[in-house]
This record gives sequence, C-alpha cells and structure tokens, in this order.
Amino acid sequence: MKGYSDVLVGVQYGDEGKARIIDTIAQDYDIVARFNGGPNAGHTLEVGNKRIALHQVPSGIFYPDMQLYVGSGCVLNLEKLFDEIREIKASGIALDGRLTISDQLTVIQPHHVLLDRLIGGTIGTTANGIGPAYADQAARMDNYYLKNLRLGDLLDDQSLARRTMIGNYLQLAEKHSISSEGIEETVENIISVAEALSDHISRNPLFMEELAGKGRKVLFEGAQASMLDVTKGTVPFVTSSHTIAGSAYVGGDLSPRYHRKTIGVAKVVMSRVGNGPFVSEFGGVQSESYCDAKDEQGKTRHVKEFEQRSYSVDELLRSSDLFKIGIALRMLGNEYGATTKRPRRIGMLDLMSLHQNCKINGVDELYLTKVDCLADFSKTSLSGIPVVVAYSIDGQEMKYVPGTSAGCRKARPAVEYLPNFSKDLSSARDPALLPAEVHGLISFVERYVGCKVAGIGVGPEREQFIRM
Ligand code: IMP
Repeated sequence: MKGYSDVLVGVQYGDEGKARIIDTIAQDYDIVARFNGGPNAGHTLEVGNKRIALHQVPSGIFYPDMQLYVGSGCVLNLEKLFDEIREIKASGIALDGRLTISDQLTVIQPHHVLLDRLIGGTIGTTANGIGPAYADQAARMDNYYLKNLRLGDLLDDQSLARRTMIGNYLQLAEKHSISSEGIEETVENIISVAEALSDHISRNPLFMEELAGKGRKVLFEGAQASMLDVTKGTVPFVTSSHTIAGSAYVGGDLSPRYHRKTIGVAKVVMSRVGNGPFVSEFGGVQSESYCDAKDEQGKTRHVKEFEQRSYSVDELLRSSDLFKIGIALRMLGNEYGATTKRPRRIGMLDLMSLHQNCKINGVDELYLTKVDCLADFSKTSLSGIPVVVAYSIDGQEMKYVPGTSAGCRKARPAVEYLPNFSKDLSSARDPALLPAEVHGLISFVERYVGCKVAGIGVGPEREQFIRM
C-alpha cells in the first residue's frame, strides 16, 4: 500500500496557530515532518497542564507513536536542539526512536548567529542566524574553504567541521573588530552535541521515501508562512527559506508523487512580527514603529509587561483610534513572540491576501484560528468585524496583491464590516451552537477565498476546536 502526504502551511505572516491545528489533526498521520526554517519558528503547545515551547522539533510530540522528521531543507542550531530535546524529555515525553534528522541539512554555525545580530535589525529577524545560514548554503565555498557545513559533513570529518566553523567565525569577527574569545569551546560543544544526537541522525536520503512507500501517512509542517517566503513574500522583509507548500517536496525529502492535499491555516485577527508591509495593520506605520521600538540597551521596549502596566484594555477598546484598538487586541489575544517576546503587529483579516496565498499554495482546506477573539470587536466602537475585501493603488482597484514591498506599501485596503457577536465561544464544541454571525463570517470567507473551512480554533487548548 502506498502512503500519502499532506502539507500544512501558514497563509499569512506566521504565528497562525499551525502547531495547535497539527496537534488536533495529527492522529490521522504517522509522521510529522519539517521542511524549512530552524529555531526561528516558535510554538507553544498546551495539553492539559503541559506547556511546551517547540522551536526545531516538529509538532505532534504529544502522540507517543508519532514519528518526527527534520528534513534537509531546514537549518539547525545543534545546541538549541539539544536543550529543546532535554526539556521535552524532562516533561516525560520520549523521543528515542521517534525523532529523525536528515544529515543533509545545514548546520547553523556561530558566525551565522553573530552576523544575523549585526545585520538583521532592519528586517527585524529573530537573530537566530537563519538568513546567513541559507546564504552560506547557496554560497557553498569561499575558494578552498567551506562556507556551508551540513550535519553529515560534520559527522564525517570533525576536524574539517572544526576548521570551517572557527575559520568562518574568525573571518567575520576580524572584519567587525569583535573578540573571538570562547569560539573554540563553542565549536567543541557543537561537535559533541552532534555526536550525542547521532542516534537521531539519518544517513539515508531515502528515509522518507521508504516510509511513504510502506504506506505511512506524512504531514508536512510548514514553518513561518507564505507571506514570509524568500521569493514570494514581502521581500526583503521575509525569512530566508521557501515556505510555500510546493517546497515541502524539496526540503522534506519526499517526491511529490505522494501529495494528497494542502491545508492552510489563517488567524482571523492577523498578526505580523518584524518589519515590512502589512496592509491591514491597525494603526499602520505608527504600529509598525511602535512594535519595533527599542530601549537604550537595544531591547524591545513595548513588551507584554510594559503594555499590561501602561494601558487599560477597556479604555483602548473604546477609542476610535485604530492604533489603540490594535494594542488592546494584542493584549487580549496575548500576541507576543514565543521566541523573541516582541509585540506582534495586529491587523484585520485580509481576504485579498488570504485568497492569493490560498491560490499560491493550492490550499484545499482552510483552518481558521482564534475565532473566539472576534467577540472582542463587539466591545469596540467599530461597526462590526472588519475584513479587507479589496486593495486599490492611486484609486485603481487591484486584481492581486502587489509583488513588491513598495507596491504593498502603496495599497489602500477597502474594509467591509461583518455583523458582530459577543458570545464567549471558548467552551463551544459543536458548530450547531455557534452564533449565526460566526457561520456568516465563515461562509463569507469560503466564498471569497474559494475553499472550504474545515475547522476553527476557539482557544489555545487542544479541545478548544470545532470541526466544521
Ligand atoms: P528570520 O527568519 O529570523 O530571518 O526573520 C525574518 C522575518 O521573518 C522577521 O520578520 C521575523 O520576525 C519573521 N519570522 C521568522 N520566523 C517567524 C515565525 O515563526 N513566526 C512569525 N514570524 C517569523
């Protein structure tokens, strides 16, 4: 019997709640596999009284028989992975015999992290070295010296790995007059972590092919989201990997012959973290620069604790200022980065963008998360739930989302207000018990986007989910 694979991707700017949807649907699969990104991803999963922050280990860890795979399209911070595995094991979850990592993936080297810290600020990266690692992957060599170091290279030849990592670091440190003290110890630690993880590392490029050939069902877990794709997103304010569903069949080490369907995940109150255009943002550029503001030490200024100390949510909600409403929605929705603690920029559900991203990914079914949060709009002065239904530039209606950041910056959203509801949905489990306004909104989205909404999230817990 031949297996199959489905690909799940975020169709906005990330943080759509992909991990919690995977956690809900994972029982239908045998393997959850990552195909892109690295420790820049961050999800917090809550099951019962367990709360686990995942960065590099695929979701689905709460299912004891689930295989977990990290494909060659990912970039890996070995030390962080080691800590993450330790934390997962400490919470009583076994990973031995379940977690497999491709030896073809690129190792994030110390100079990648340093370089990202030096140059990633304008984009607002997560400073994990993601961009520099993918850049070195493409660069391959610098004359006779390796720029890109893959996990398999490291295991094959430790002295080459040592030379590569130290050499790359010294070159960069010297260029920026930065001390390289401690680099030898860091590199030794990376090498010993790789050895310690060797039972998890597959040397077989056909690992996934063989499992699918034996009838196993694969769920590919996209990290980040399609608006952050390195070529199709809001370039240059994007991540450095391909995030689109099609790329699962490159970075996930499986041929596309197994593809069955694509699953999209979107959040009904949108967010974006980091810089770049966000057409439906509450408060526009004011919100963008507020969320990016740093203190004298270069630390994010408007973190959760600052906002909780400084604002009354009710007062903000009553304001007619969209920027303030955005702050209130962030506080109510707890929209702060899991990895970086940065405040996420908040926006209206943008159907123009959602439609385009569902097309690009070939989404067959869509999950909407945080539907319970829509009730917050009933406490605002807005005349309903705002959704963006069109863009125009210089008065000209657009047929598509512009392909450049400059184009997106010029686009003006046309907003439609859908009927409000105030019912608390957090304990709802049955579509029949949802208010008519929620059904109306879902049908509106389905018509606009052209695909079925398969389920909705009404809270962070596994059971706060309704299959439609
Ligand atoms: P990088 O991936 O760290 O290079 O960051 C590039 C951009 O992608 C920045 O705007 C980040 O905030 C954003 N980004 C990276 N990973 C995530 C994620 O998991 N969720 C949301 N945004 C992300």
